[in-house]
Amino acid sequence: MTFRQTHLLGIEHLDPQDITAILDLADHYVDLNRSPLKRSDVLAGLTQINMFFENSTRTQASFEIAGKRLGADVMNMAMQTSSVKKGETLIDTALTLNAMHPDLLVVRHPMSGAVNLLAEKVNCAVLNAGDGRHEHPTQALLDALTIRRAKGRLHRLNIAICGDIAHSRVARSNILLLGKMESRIRLIGPPTLMPAGAADWGVEVFDDMKAGLRDVDVVMMLRLQKERMDGGFIPSEREYFHRFGLDAEKLGHARPDAIVMHPGPMNRGVEIDGTIADDINRSVIQEQVEMGVAVRMAAMDLLARNLRRTPEPVHA
Ligand code: NCD
Repeated sequence: MTFRQTHLLGIEHLDPQDITAILDLADHYVDLNRSPLKRSDVLAGLTQINMFFENSTRTQASFEIAGKRLGADVMNMAMQTSSVKKGETLIDTALTLNAMHPDLLVVRHPMSGAVNLLAEKVNCAVLNAGDGRHEHPTQALLDALTIRRAKGRLHRLNIAICGDIAHSRVARSNILLLGKMESRIRLIGPPTLMPAGAADWGVEVFDDMKAGLRDVDVVMMLRLQKERMDGGFIPSEREYFHRFGLDAEKLGHARPDAIVMHPGPMNRGVEIDGTIADDINRSVIQEQVEMGVAVRMAAMDLLARNLRRTPEPVHA
């Protein structure tokens, strides 16, 4: 198993072997999580701190469960009540926590690049749980695991990523990962929500769901990320659903065995019809959540192994 990373900051830094190592180990943790005693001690004695400067349900809960199932001491910093509210900077907060000798620091931050910056200042493994519109590596890994288990492979699949691509770190990390694993990616969305230069990323770009979804194996829907929008990107939610919302008619253009994915949180009736999201024959949205715990266990396990191999700095 080859995994030489000391942090998990983005898919950008991983090669296909790293990705496969995480997914293979995650498969093993799926089995553990389905057994009655969901316990291992690979992180016993290690301290994991979760710092979420942005709202989260799935990511924070699954990082916490993942750490606990592996025996780590897990602490969730309540950022709303921390000294960040008194004006302390991200770096000062991180240095303060670093002085308490954590081994794993899980960080979500609204600014792109903030987690990479923080990783330079601390001497523990840092996992990016989403930074601005930049990267969300564990989301792309859990999506990849879900796809691999449903389709049996990651290469030569046609995968459509639909909706608000411009503001989405999930889209960015998925484009990087699926490209590295040799899938064919189509981006579908209104031109106002398509990042400038998307056509140069080795993907196909569509502004029409019917054409873009034709014969795809995977349909990945994205939320309209209004918190990152500073103007009118769509005429109305009703109009958006009509043109880009996934319903039975639009899904009919994909392959009959195409799976439907969504990272959550979902806005039913905006980017996806509730009946599609709940259709257990097509939607793998709950599987994605299940895979999220396993992937985070695998990522922390692999990083912890490298942590122990790093020699202590020698002080003169
Ligand atoms: C995503 C995120 O936070 O980037 N959610 C998640 O982690 N499951 C997507 C989103 O917020 O729309």
